[in-house]
Amino acid sequence: MTAFAPRLPIPTPRERPAGPAAFLLGIATNPLSLLTRRHYEELFVPMRGLLGTTAVVSDPAAIRHILIDNAAHYRKDPLQLRVLKPIFGEGMLTADGADWRRQRRTLAPLFTPRRTALHARAMLEAGLAFRATLDAYPDGAAIRVDQAMAELTLDVLSRTILRGGLGAEPKIVTAALRRYLATAGRVDPLDVLGAPAWLPRLGRTFGRGAVQTLGRVVDDLVAARRGEPGAQGRDDLIAALLDARDPETGQGLTESEIRDNVLTLMAAGHETTANALTWTLLLLGAHPGVRAACEAEIDAAGPLDDDPAAAPDRLPLVKAVIEESMRLYPPAATLSREAIAPDVVAGHALPAGATVFISPWVVHRHRRLWDEPDAFRPERFLGPARDAIPRFSYLPFGAGPRICIGAAFAMQEAVILLATLLRSHRFEMQPGEDAPGPVQRVTVRPKGGLTLRVHRRPA
Ligand code: HEM
Repeated sequence: MTAFAPRLPIPTPRERPAGPAAFLLGIATNPLSLLTRRHYEELFVPMRGLLGTTAVVSDPAAIRHILIDNAAHYRKDPLQLRVLKPIFGEGMLTADGADWRRQRRTLAPLFTPRRTALHARAMLEAGLAFRATLDAYPDGAAIRVDQAMAELTLDVLSRTILRGGLGAEPKIVTAALRRYLATAGRVDPLDVLGAPAWLPRLGRTFGRGAVQTLGRVVDDLVAARRGEPGAQGRDDLIAALLDARDPETGQGLTESEIRDNVLTLMAAGHETTANALTWTLLLLGAHPGVRAACEAEIDAAGPLDDDPAAAPDRLPLVKAVIEESMRLYPPAATLSREAIAPDVVAGHALPAGATVFISPWVVHRHRRLWDEPDAFRPERFLGPARDAIPRFSYLPFGAGPRICIGAAFAMQEAVILLATLLRSHRFEMQPGEDAPGPVQRVTVRPKGGLTLRVHRRPA
């Protein structure tokens, strides 16, 4: 493997695929630990095992084929749905076919470029409010960055898409989401073995309380919004979902579709962005030279207040740092699809029912697609170098019809929040401390959390 900064550990690729017992353990605890050297060196790695016929596909042309050209012949794979459905229900992320199309149409107006830009000021305000909480800590205090970022991005959702909807509950919601992702949100060995649904899954049993808390919070929000008189100011997510009508049938969404989509956006929209920011702060802590260059760019650009939506254009290095961070630590590490008909992918025949894994984690660190794949080099994402990156070699937000609906929202948010924090504070690793390695639990997060020391920057 190419040398990698020793302070940022990643799982060592296995020389050989795991046997059945190690596979079950790995899939339940950290699927990244199952990857072999071959995955990083070959563009198509087939396997027959407990999951039936599978293939890890990293060939950019084949990825395009699966996610775009032949997307109609693939669907979200059942194993992934079993993990995600307990929380996302029938919301857009986990729906398929006509249901998915209707929901995507309904939610699309919330994520247009104009609407996204309108959210910029609230993102800035959330960043400034968080900065005020940082100011309350003594200089050099150790803070749990992963938790702080989760609360911060949930605050952004509450101020933007939910329009203050979470009220006094954000801490309860973040805690419940984290608990869910740590317990229920993982593949259970019983699912892999095809055990019947009535057999209790340990993780899901522990996560049930969290799911109930989340459901209750959202039901209360929807009920409160439904009871509000008049249509004035009703441009938030819940109102849009309540008002949505299928252009073909005139039908509205059902109670459960509304609830599931609110939960979907809350979960899909905050944990991912929080992890992107967490890894970015860790990488900057480990690369003080890049951090200093970011600080210089932010200082030179001046305050963002006049036009916060322009932040990604005004701060190209900050944006590049976030993009490079999502290359090394893509929050959504694996996309999986089931072939609904036989297909030929990268010259290999796949039977109907085969599962293909397109792993941004693997693609982004692939030896044949990137120079020095494990090195943190934000300049890859600056100027002409950025334009030269092939579309299907970099896909933190996926691609094709099911590409992340919140991609532009997330990038704008991450740049504004990072710039706001770096303008006033510096996040540092303690000398001699090892950084946590990554663990995949729906999203890729630092194992055991991330603690950094936070210092006020000199004025
Ligand atoms: C850095 C932040 C984010 C990352 C890395 C990310 C990544 C992704 C990826 C890879 C997918 C595609 C999954 C697949 O094809 O199987 C996806 C879908 C989705 N994302 Fe994001 N996401 C982020 C932020 C957000 C935000 C801020 C929102 C909303 C507020 C959001 C809402 C969704 C939804 C609803 C889907 C399902 C789209 C569909 O199936 O049509 N995401 N995301």
